Amino acid sequence: MTETPPITVLLDDTAYAEAVQLAVDSAAAYYADGTSTLDDDAYDQLVRGITAYEEKHPESVLPSSPTGKVAGGAVVGDVPHTVPMLSLDNVFGPEQLADWAAGLERRLGRPVTAWSVEPKLDGLAISARYRHGRLAQLVTRGDGTAGEDVSHAIGTIVGLPDRLADAVTVELRGEVMMTASQFEQACAKREAHDGTTFANPRSAAAGTLRAQDRPYVCELTFFGYGVLPPPDDDSEFAVRLRGLPHSQVMGWVAAQGVQTTAATPVAGILAETLDQVQARVEEIAAARAELPFGIDGIVIKCDLAGDQAEAGFSSRAPRWAVAYKLPATEKITKLLRVEWNTGRTGIIAPRAVLEPVKLDGSVVTYATLHNVADITRRGLMLGDSVTVYKAGDVIPRVEAPVVHLRTGDEQPIPIPELCPQCGDAIDRSQERWRCVRGRNCQAIASIIYAVERDTLDIEGLAASRVKQMFDTGLIADFADLFFLTREQLLGLERMGETSTDNLLAAIEQAKTRPLSRVFAALGVRGTGRAMSRRIARHFATMDEVRAADAEAIQRVEGMGPEKAPLVVAELAELAPLIDKLVRAGVNMIEPGATPPSAEPVAPGQELPLASMSVVVTGTMTGPLAALSRNEVNELIERAGGKSSSSVSAKTALLVAGEKAGSKRAKAETLGVRVVSPEEFADQVSAFL
Ligand code: IVH
Repeated sequence: MTETPPITVLLDDTAYAEAVQLAVDSAAAYYADGTSTLDDDAYDQLVRGITAYEEKHPESVLPSSPTGKVAGGAVVGDVPHTVPMLSLDNVFGPEQLADWAAGLERRLGRPVTAWSVEPKLDGLAISARYRHGRLAQLVTRGDGTAGEDVSHAIGTIVGLPDRLADAVTVELRGEVMMTASQFEQACAKREAHDGTTFANPRSAAAGTLRAQDRPYVCELTFFGYGVLPPPDDDSEFAVRLRGLPHSQVMGWVAAQGVQTTAATPVAGILAETLDQVQARVEEIAAARAELPFGIDGIVIKCDLAGDQAEAGFSSRAPRWAVAYKLPATEKITKLLRVEWNTGRTGIIAPRAVLEPVKLDGSVVTYATLHNVADITRRGLMLGDSVTVYKAGDVIPRVEAPVVHLRTGDEQPIPIPELCPQCGDAIDRSQERWRCVRGRNCQAIASIIYAVERDTLDIEGLAASRVKQMFDTGLIADFADLFFLTREQLLGLERMGETSTDNLLAAIEQAKTRPLSRVFAALGVRGTGRAMSRRIARHFATMDEVRAADAEAIQRVEGMGPEKAPLVVAELAELAPLIDKLVRAGVNMIEPGATPPSAEPVAPGQELPLASMSVVVTGTMTGPLAALSRNEVNELIERAGGKSSSSVSAKTALLVAGEKAGSKRAKAETLGVRVVSPEEFADQVSAFL
């Protein structure tokens, strides 16, 4: 965060004029429909170049420059704003923040001792006009002086009530956006309607807000960040509201029934010093990847009305607030190639090869493309400039082509006719294409997965040995391992008596693994290790799992309505393999779990972590040191808890080992109980 941000160097008036035009066009597209020819980092870099040029050549400044006016100049609506909707100046690191604050304090002639620190929501600014407590009109920001009437969206925006608690006349200002789940639903609706999809939550929100005649309705979310009484209102209420510190104004807004970020992990806080501000900036940045909505920075405001009034405004932004920008999670780069790979379960998946691009702290070269239907929905072509998204530890993904950057040289993406692994035919009956040989196409990979440490954990069975056994015809699937004889193993090259006996013992041992491990080893599509544990705990026995229909499977926590029928179909496909495992004497029971049909637990017999959501982070020490993360999660679930990878308000306990980073900070902010691995081991010792 401390490195100096890059800047576009402009050498003469022509370059300057071109840069201004590029910035204006880009901002216009961004504010109109959320798309742009420039990603956020590139835009900021360009504006820094324009600013630097203007400082050196004040005589050349163009009236259309993005530095001189409210950003987002092009979509002018016809509803004038009562008070202009301004932009915010940006800072990009602690030094720039300190410089900005020092400048402000010089202007005020005193130190600022109350700062409000809140997330910068990555949506669209909107003004919601309430008359006598009723929501009367919604206006977009437009060019900042006038916006578009989008009142047709009233009733579709979560967090923006039709009526306030008090019958007051005010204008609420805030951001309209789509949460991750709203975005998913919107994409599904649009796909059902015309087979296309939205590029990202921001452009989906922009399009949805302005769309008037769509046959389907998509839900939006509002977070308020300010309120204005009418400018000419000098009633006692209006005067009092104008005099309140920002933090108290936000309290009032929430009390009116309007959503604010107060209920989120990145709630606004009050800070007295810049060190405290910076600490909160870092907490918000750390929480960003796990938020269900997009933020692109942190807004720091003077909290006191008196400080704000005295600081005043420049032509484009308030002097009492600043945006601390976070690195972009989305960039534009080139789609160079598409590779096709057949996975463990026979699924054929495309992968995008990109011109390397730095994104959220790492260089991205590959990104997921999901499936053929997804490529078609997005209308992608080879050579396209594409938006690529990555945040936190999510797998980078290609969002959409930037259609206005096309040169005409783009080519259709070649789609495979045959399985890229074995050359057999492709089953195209589902959206995710599959080799007709199914999991047999990649049988070796399936067996290796089944015997790994976090599945059946067959010690000493290396991938090369699996391949050798497969190639010599000793095994065709992992169940065959349980029928191997001593003679068969001794007959293999590089296999002595001791290693044979050790391997046979390890295979015997693997028969006693809990159902969760056995189920995971099957590699059922749509389930990973965590879901396998949930299924095993829910049903307790393989017989119960196999007897379940889609409806019953869907009762497993986190199992969606699309996945449940797939799991049922997979279990049918895997029936011969499961039968073979049963014949071999492999355990099919989850210790400590009770099937859904059985009696409920008697009071006093609850498990120590009953219905607690537990997150584990950092390096484990003490009795937990020997366990893999998967094994710690299994332990949590045996003890009745739910293991989760992210800290949220719902987390009951954080087990923080050495080098616990952002999760610990987040837990502390949220008031989540934090324990050491040793304390935790004590608590669940009966299950270790
Ligand atoms: S206060 C006078 N607070 O950022 C402008 N703005 O780049 C004061 N934004 O147009 C705005 N989160 O749409 C404020 N917590 C927040 C915000 C926020 C997002 C947007 C807003 C504004 C843009 C400026």
